[in-house]
Amino acid sequence: MDLNKIVCSCMSVTNGMIKEAVDGGATTLEEVQEATGAGTVCGACLDDVKRLVEEFTSEK
Ligand code: FES
Repeated sequence: MDLNKIVCSCMSVTNGMIKEAVDGGATTLEEVQEATGAGTVCGACLDDVKRLVEEFTSEK
């Protein structure tokens, strides 16, 4: 996975930033949204953000 790829263009949040949020203790989509701002503007990225959260939390 390219950790520098932007998943949420509204907030310029990358895959790596989602991972960091999960590494920092976020376990749900809501917590990741709070930590990164991803998916809090237009919502178009929500499915992708959710998928990443699931992927990173399952890696723990
Ligand atoms: S692309 Fe993520 S909120 Fe718009």
